[in-house]
Amino acid sequence: MSNRIVINVDIEKGTINKNIYGHFAEHLGRCIYEGFWVGEDSTIDHTNGIRNDVVEALKNLNIPVLRWPGGCFADEYHWKDGIGPKEERKRMVNTHWGGVVENNHFGTHEFMRLCELLEAEPYICGNVGSGTVQEMSEWVEYMTFDGESPMANWRQENGRNKPWQLTYFGVGNENWGCGGNMRPQYYADLYRQYQTYVRNYGDNKLYKIAGGANVDDYNWTEVLMREAGHLMDGLSLHYYTIPGDFWKGKGAALDPSVDEWFITMQKALHIDELITKHSIIMDKYDPDKRVGMIIDEWGTWFDVEPGTNPGFLYQQNTIRDALVAGLHFHIFHKHNERVQMANIAQTVNVLQAMILTEGEKMLLTPTYHVFEMFKVHQDAKKLDVEEFSHIYARNREQLPNVSVSASKDKAGKVNVSLCNLHHQDESRLTIELRGLIEQVKDISGRILTANETNAHNTFEDPDNVKPVAFRDYSFNAGQMEVKLPPMSVAVLTIG
Ligand code: AHR
Repeated sequence: MSNRIVINVDIEKGTINKNIYGHFAEHLGRCIYEGFWVGEDSTIDHTNGIRNDVVEALKNLNIPVLRWPGGCFADEYHWKDGIGPKEERKRMVNTHWGGVVENNHFGTHEFMRLCELLEAEPYICGNVGSGTVQEMSEWVEYMTFDGESPMANWRQENGRNKPWQLTYFGVGNENWGCGGNMRPQYYADLYRQYQTYVRNYGDNKLYKIAGGANVDDYNWTEVLMREAGHLMDGLSLHYYTIPGDFWKGKGAALDPSVDEWFITMQKALHIDELITKHSIIMDKYDPDKRVGMIIDEWGTWFDVEPGTNPGFLYQQNTIRDALVAGLHFHIFHKHNERVQMANIAQTVNVLQAMILTEGEKMLLTPTYHVFEMFKVHQDAKKLDVEEFSHIYARNREQLPNVSVSASKDKAGKVNVSLCNLHHQDESRLTIELRGLIEQVKDISGRILTANETNAHNTFEDPDNVKPVAFRDYSFNAGQMEVKLPPMSVAVLTIG
């Protein structure tokens, strides 16, 4: 028996916001330092201290937006320590992440340069937990005011004449936890106060993002929307896929048991329920869906690799991570009316990374390849999809075994992405392309798959998991027959 899928090519359901393919880079472990920043004196090939190999690889993903400087780090970051001559910059302790010394060599100017190199929009997260209203207000003035003012003058003295274009600004991070352990009422009041002084200068119009809920804290969303919904453009949500227990043992990135594989898929799919329930609350206060849900931290979180600093959150990345990424994108597509941005945690060397580095060596992870394969969905029209999926069953729990999403790009090409979640069973699919008007001239496909649940790339074997041409399909009279191997992510382009 095969899975039946109907893609209604003539039914468009809004646009897939390219910003859901966004990224997050924190001053955590080796993400910024070593990952992006090697410094102007490095022997590693760089532009203004930023690694060229990493930038080149990431440019191929069309990263739309990059969040910085945290995370938890954002609420202890004082931006004024990170500008001016590097040798005079204040050193601080990164208390959240390994207690290491932060020399502030990567600050506002360096981050904005990185965004320029990546051609990504900056998304800056301000400090509510340990910073002042004045500090936050002056940061925005420093970055965006074009004229005579103390902060604009200071920026010019530091070598940047024109202001930067800045749209996305977060008012605090996880203020229910590392960002101040606040109660929602208290944070809602602080949000109202802080955002008042986060000004729009000239033509620079900010999109203000309030710190949102953790996982299923629906009360946080309720209070924030009720008390401050009218003063925000976006409200964040954080959810990590952790197969085990956050405190007692999250599970290893490599060598998952079959049960752990299944649980990981189950937990990745859980974000669908979370988005649905948080959306219901947001709809109550914002029926027109003006306020975006900003899922600015998501991804797998495993135990750190043995022998690495526990505060650096360095983990390997396997075909399992690729499936988690594909599932998240499909779920974000599904909720495209409310979800306006998402930022995977984190881009390099931390959690579910795109890139791992070791000195001058660099490798692309399976997750990188999913971002690359799925970039065809960025800003495309989402197509209506009906699925009649098989069931992936284990220990009396059930999941769909296949996940599908489809979009139509500006040239009229249809891109269908498919994930087979099953650890050992292939899936036969019958895909009806209903409503196709033009004759199909060309079909091509790529697939990312592996024979083992822990398949990953290493510095010795960096191409072990990478996309290859996919040809296991036939097309006849508007219908495709597809054979999808277990543990696979595929994209078919029909034009
Ligand atoms: O991404 C790692 C950390 O996870 C972030 O700093 C924090 O916001 C979250 O708890």
